[in-house]
Amino acid sequence: MAGATVIDHPLVQHKLTIMRNKETSTQGFRRLLREISLLMCYEVTRDLKLTSVTIETPLAEIQSPALAGKKLVFASILRAGNGLLEGMLDLVPSARVAHIGLYRDPETLTPVEYYFKAPQDMEDRLVIVVDPMLATANSAIAAVERLKERGAHNLRFVCLLAAPEGIAKFNEAHPDVPIFTASIDQKLNDHGYIVPGLGDAGDRMYGTK
Ligand code: PRP
Ligand code: URA
Repeated sequence: MAGATVIDHPLVQHKLTIMRNKETSTQGFRRLLREISLLMCYEVTRDLKLTSVTIETPLAEIQSPALAGKKLVFASILRAGNGLLEGMLDLVPSARVAHIGLYRDPETLTPVEYYFKAPQDMEDRLVIVVDPMLATANSAIAAVERLKERGAHNLRFVCLLAAPEGIAKFNEAHPDVPIFTASIDQKLNDHGYIVPGLGDAGDRMYGTK
């Protein structure tokens, strides 16, 4: 489907299948989310710009590649975004972090903000927004709006599962923000849940319900 890049690496797809399984434990779900986020981070950052730095190996001085520009920002949509954040920070430990506290009102499916904390200087940084689920896209759209208000203009959105309806709505609201996902599922059900999906990501991560 146009509008989202599907990360189809076999390890990502295998881990996602285990995560979808309702028999997978809370502990297993959290561990897999961390592992999968590491693999997804690898794909999402594959085109980062490099510069050349001078270093000395034990044998010689060389020009060697290193990441160019300011440190990137991971923006986690609480609470389930933190599952993706952990693995990404394992891979890019020097990244800055923004937290956006949003929950979906179960009746209206509109996001309610309860927390926002982000680095001040977002203008010159790549901002990678993370949340396992893109369902109606209301949460992701609101989070990106808040980050843009803060000056961010180079953004990417990463999720595990996306509904076709959510992709279309997000692309319309933020055509400049590419979506990366491990799967585009069939549809949303009447309660705004992704089908077949994996259930409520936050509940499965933290054992709440
Ligand atoms: C889930 C999920 C997304 C949102 C997706 O969070 O982590 O943030 O729903 O739905 P949407 O695309 O329709 O907005 P939830 O609101 O359940 O909060 P939680 O992470 O605190 O459980
Ligand atoms: N949020 C979730 O956690 N799961 C869904 O399927 C939809 C929204």
